[in-house]
Amino acid sequence: MNEVKKRSTFSSKLGFVLAAAGSAVGLGNLWRFPYLAAKYGGGIFLLTYVLLAVTFGFALMVAEIALGRKTGLSVVGAYKKLNKKWAFLGYISAAVPIIILPYYSVIGGWVTKYIGTYVMGEGTAAAGPDYFNNFISGTWEPIIWFAIFVLATALVVLFGVEKGIERVSKFMMPVLVILSIGIAIYVITRPGALAGLKYYFVPDFSKLSSKTFLAAIGQLFYSLSLAMGIMITYGSYMKKDANIENSVFQIELFDSGFALIAGLMIVPGVAVFSGVENLDASGPGLMFQVLPQVFDNMAGGHIIGGLFFILVLFAALTSSISLMETVVSIFQDKCKLSRRTIVILVTIGTLLIGLLSSLGFGVLSFIQPLGEGTSLLDFFDFISNSVIMPIVALLTCIFVGYVIKTKTISDEVKLSSKFHFEKMFIVITKYIAPIGLVLILVSSVLNTLGVITL
Ligand code: PHE
Repeated sequence: MNEVKKRSTFSSKLGFVLAAAGSAVGLGNLWRFPYLAAKYGGGIFLLTYVLLAVTFGFALMVAEIALGRKTGLSVVGAYKKLNKKWAFLGYISAAVPIIILPYYSVIGGWVTKYIGTYVMGEGTAAAGPDYFNNFISGTWEPIIWFAIFVLATALVVLFGVEKGIERVSKFMMPVLVILSIGIAIYVITRPGALAGLKYYFVPDFSKLSSKTFLAAIGQLFYSLSLAMGIMITYGSYMKKDANIENSVFQIELFDSGFALIAGLMIVPGVAVFSGVENLDASGPGLMFQVLPQVFDNMAGGHIIGGLFFILVLFAALTSSISLMETVVSIFQDKCKLSRRTIVILVTIGTLLIGLLSSLGFGVLSFIQPLGEGTSLLDFFDFISNSVIMPIVALLTCIFVGYVIKTKTISDEVKLSSKFHFEKMFIVITKYIAPIGLVLILVSSVLNTLGVITL
């Protein structure tokens, strides 16, 4: 049932950018980007990421926001309104936040746990080599922190106090950025950091493979909250006179800039505290292993550590709230239950599915779906970011390029401003992105099946 109600719009132009940035900036920048950059060759990953951001990322974000603003609907409705046969794309997109929310909350739980660690004055213990692994391999502790994070998210969504959270985070975000810059400066001025900086910035082309592309494109979509319909929903709330192209530039710059800074705290940190040779072996625990070592070495570091994790929690909450809102609105459109019942059901579902990711480091660690040493969390992360999102992006390009045609998007963009990069947008949407995405997907499937090693 689609309830017809007048959509509220963002009251200011900056309001849209801030809300979209609140959704975009989160654990993707702080937790995910640095470990992928470390794992996939440093400089070469960074270069690939930036190139994809200014091309694919730009085109897809413009398209999604314009689709939302044009139709005034969220994901399923938007595709359906423009072409009935394409409603299925809305459903595939809707699967993404449903998969991400549970495991995102597991990581959110880790962040919450580390606040507890610093509040209890255990900063030195946290810097020990086994602290993190002992924690995540436990059964109840990670589950309890994870549940706290999910419930916090659910309470905000249930009581509709997002506005309050947004107001707080408008203040917290800049503090987080400034603190991160300070920590990064501290790290890169330590002895031994140079090797890490070189690794992070200088591309080593021998490390380029189809896996680098797949990892970078998945991270790009994840970090910008693309290829899952969220930006369509946000676009539906955007005023007709707001400048889409500029907004996209601002969000991308902020999001990528912050990821870059997060990487600067963490990648050289590995070089300082355990040696560059360990960078390749990085995984989802990297931020939680490196930063406590950094804080333990800093004067006043334990206080800074506590403050840092509190700020990270806010960044994570603004993202998890936008994920849960999306999931709730998907079900709200589809079933007749009250919003409250849906929030409760989504919370229970999230807790149940997330349990798998949480236990995947402990009692379920024998399940290694993607091969030796991988976890259930890696699996869910892979399915959403490396499989479904590239497929959604590919289909979105085909839809925009060949079904509704790029002119539909251009016209929407031009309602409020010039479209400076229109030609680039058209070429990317119609040719470069579809071909690139097919190549990336096919080679990654062949790689996974062991047919080729590219
Ligand atoms: N973009 C968010 C981040 O970087 C994650 C997210 C994905 C949030 C999808 C909302 C929707 O952490």
